[in-house]
Amino acid sequence: MTVSTNLTSNKHVLEWVAEMARLTKPDNIVWVDGSEEERERLTKLAVETGVLEPLNEKKRPGSYLHRSNPNDVARVENLTFICTETKEEAGPTNNWMAPKDAYEKLGKLFDGSMKGRTMYVIPYIMGPAGSPMAKVGVELTDSVYVVLNMRTMTRMGKVAFDMLGASDDFNRGLHSTLDINPERRFICHFPQDNTIWSVGSGYGGNVLLGKKCLALRIGSYLGQKEGWLAEHMLILGVESPDGEMTYVAAAFPSACGKTNFAMMIPPERFKGWKIWTVGDDIAWMKVGEDGRLRAINPEAGYFGVAPGTNKKSNPNAMASVAKNTIFTNVAKTKDGDVWWEGIDGEVPEELTDWQGRPWKKGSAEKAAHPNSRFTAPAENNPALSRFSEDPEGVPISAFIFGGRRATTIPLVIQSFNWTHGVFFGSALGSETTAAATGKVGVVRRDPFAMLPFCGYNMGDYFAHWLEMQALIPNPPKIFMVNWFRQDKNGKFLWPGFGENMRVLKWIVDRARLRVGGQETPFGWVPKAGDLDLSGLDISSEQVNAATEINLDEWEIELKSHGEFFDSLGTTMPEPLELQRKLLLSRVESMRKNKWASTPSMPPKPEART
Ligand code: OXD
Ligand code: MN
Repeated sequence: MTVSTNLTSNKHVLEWVAEMARLTKPDNIVWVDGSEEERERLTKLAVETGVLEPLNEKKRPGSYLHRSNPNDVARVENLTFICTETKEEAGPTNNWMAPKDAYEKLGKLFDGSMKGRTMYVIPYIMGPAGSPMAKVGVELTDSVYVVLNMRTMTRMGKVAFDMLGASDDFNRGLHSTLDINPERRFICHFPQDNTIWSVGSGYGGNVLLGKKCLALRIGSYLGQKEGWLAEHMLILGVESPDGEMTYVAAAFPSACGKTNFAMMIPPERFKGWKIWTVGDDIAWMKVGEDGRLRAINPEAGYFGVAPGTNKKSNPNAMASVAKNTIFTNVAKTKDGDVWWEGIDGEVPEELTDWQGRPWKKGSAEKAAHPNSRFTAPAENNPALSRFSEDPEGVPISAFIFGGRRATTIPLVIQSFNWTHGVFFGSALGSETTAAATGKVGVVRRDPFAMLPFCGYNMGDYFAHWLEMQALIPNPPKIFMVNWFRQDKNGKFLWPGFGENMRVLKWIVDRARLRVGGQETPFGWVPKAGDLDLSGLDISSEQVNAATEINLDEWEIELKSHGEFFDSLGTTMPEPLELQRKLLLSRVESMRKNKWASTPSMPPKPEART
């Protein structure tokens, strides 16, 4: 098959596309240019072929619904592989296949996989065009849904070939949906070849190859080689009433409210304060000429979880999905709008569920799939930072690590130093379930929220974080937070959402060295009175319980970190294990000396009389 386009004369691209076309044998090849005319043409095609369903143009202008195959609704960690020369390079937390075996196995599946189909060639940039931190990828896919999603999530089309020029330095992504059969589904990463092969799925996280595959798995591998960081982190800017801007990057495992935090609206008490979103999922960070860690969001849109999103939990997300959005696996209302569990308003009497079946109020089944998604352009977000396209990135002053923890982890705690902060990240955990009775859920260790996304050996990844300290003259301060601590009846102790601004303010002030802290055995916490609680309807007992450091709980926690560290084998860096032992020995000495707890918060002003 002869391959030609007026979009690029890059011989590496042309040769590779020709080679992949010989393998997959598409009926024709369409080179995607990113134009408006093309968007209209491909959207029309998607509607005609039943891939997209138009929504009510008045209620959701420019928006569409996609229903995926019910067997294909999430990332498939068990079918995701890191294909490095040795198993050791991939490490114990990743599935591994030898590159030769993976190319052979998937090559057989790709052979003729696009017969009767169109191959789309999608050039795209992760990061602002022209940024020294941005990277070019080319994804070949037989899915028009992928093309339309990539258009929102990346800077797609001619702009990417213009940035690439004649260079060979681009990610080679190949995707075919095949017959959406879980038996023939594999997501394989070849970090040493800067290549991704994905077959048998149409789900975003498996097939929008710029996102988890390139920006995190391949990105983290490249980051280690080249001295930068690719992280599963949101990036936000905090603007004070007098215009001071402070940026933080925060890692939370899935379902811990990352998008909500990135788009937060501060409560009434913080009039004049503003949160600006730079990114809601991924951060690429490199040391800038000013000696600070500079971060870009490689993405251009949000691929967010719909259920639970409403005008209270995330008004900016609701505004982001008001138009030009692709919804996947949500329910549809009678008048052609979208619906999901937790959206505002009354539950409608009747809906069409995510599988296209009639649904009635009171049904035991969910109308929207719990992992139903919206793909929305970042430009729709009223809180989008005006620096989100800055090619140099924004300077990060603080890192935040957070998980969903019913016990142990206090509302906020700052590390003593970089190594201690890296320890916070390495031991991050989140509950898989939190029983309604308030019983502690099962804690899964998810270091740096990167367990499913680290493209190489986790121990080496920790070592890379430790080594980064030497490269950053002005390193960010490191914090851990927990919005999800519960009382013994299973009730959340902290109101969360916009009220998290109170904690964020303390973090900003600490990062700027202008507020004190209280030393505890495990890090710095706010001194009594330093956390602004005015106007908040919460008892001081509740705040004390949310911020408490309990030695018994920490002993269990640190022992469980030990088991996790042991499971990582010989690459586990010694400084982190020493850090753990030091903290454990503090538990013993504090207990011997009858250390009571953290100092109490002052009572609420109303209760002071
Ligand atoms: C995730 C996502 O699964 O961002 O973390 O989609
Ligand atoms: Mn994510």
